[in-house]
Amino acid sequence: MRDLVAGWRRAGRSVGLVPTMGALHAGHLSLVRAAAEENDQVVVSIFVNPLQFGPGEDFERYPRDFDRDRSALDGLGVEAVFAPRVEEMFPAGSTTRIRVGGLDEVLEGAFRPGHFEGVATVVTKLFWAVGPDRAYFGQKDAQQAAVVTRLAAELNTGIEIRVCPIVREPDGVALSSRNAYLSNAERQAATVLSRALRRADEAYRAGQRDSKVLRALLQAELAAEPLARTDYAEVVDPADFLSPGRLAVLAVRIGSTRLIDNHLLGDRFQPLP
Ligand code: PAJ
Repeated sequence: MRDLVAGWRRAGRSVGLVPTMGALHAGHLSLVRAAAEENDQVVVSIFVNPLQFGPGEDFERYPRDFDRDRSALDGLGVEAVFAPRVEEMFPAGSTTRIRVGGLDEVLEGAFRPGHFEGVATVVTKLFWAVGPDRAYFGQKDAQQAAVVTRLAAELNTGIEIRVCPIVREPDGVALSSRNAYLSNAERQAATVLSRALRRADEAYRAGQRDSKVLRALLQAELAAEPLARTDYAEVVDPADFLSPGRLAVLAVRIGSTRLIDNHLLGDRFQPLP
């Protein structure tokens, strides 16, 4: 991977990296398109990272279909797919970890201990392996995007982090590889996340600025869906995910599937491309 990129660099070409865990959908592909627009060469990494899954989470059953993912990338101008094996990325006995303090302790970080350490560590390794000019992440995982933006700056990587809008289904559900786990009834129930965000968004547009009131709106909408169990629903500052602000963030369990979604109140919702 490094040799390939070194060759491009010698030819003066810019490089964009799109890190993924595969099971590619239109959300991932929107990042690939953005990368292709802004760089001469695009690398997509596909690696289901064991470090970011907690005990009892879905690492084992996470969907893996390399051939399908490769075909999904056809025609998008992707020059290389980097798909290392687990033993290559994390040889037995490797203990080096990257932690982004503060951001990794609240909300998603509090509910999934060690998750952001796993993300930060693998992303740092992908940055070293590829050495891109720019790397592309989705607003879908807002707190992850914040963690990565901070680590790229604080580790002096020189890599520009680009955060792309959330791609949604026509009924509002944010695209996610984990949607594949939902039964028909659960898929219907999953619309409650974006409905709650829209409800808070309407109130915000009507002038409501009290994040406690906005949070209560989110929670009331989520509570009305019998199949949904809320992990958290908050309206926070996107800089620290802690102080009051205008980023509405949700984590909701529908049956055994955990879904996250968010919306910067006042911004427009993104339809399918
Ligand atoms: P994964 O869940 O495969 O997502 C890869 C990238 O696609 C992430 O940046 C994510 O935010 C973005 N993405 C997912 N669904 C999206 C949607 N509906 N709209 C826009 N972007 C979307 O996130 C990871 O993998 C991993 O944590 C990773 C960064 C690869 C590190 O292992």
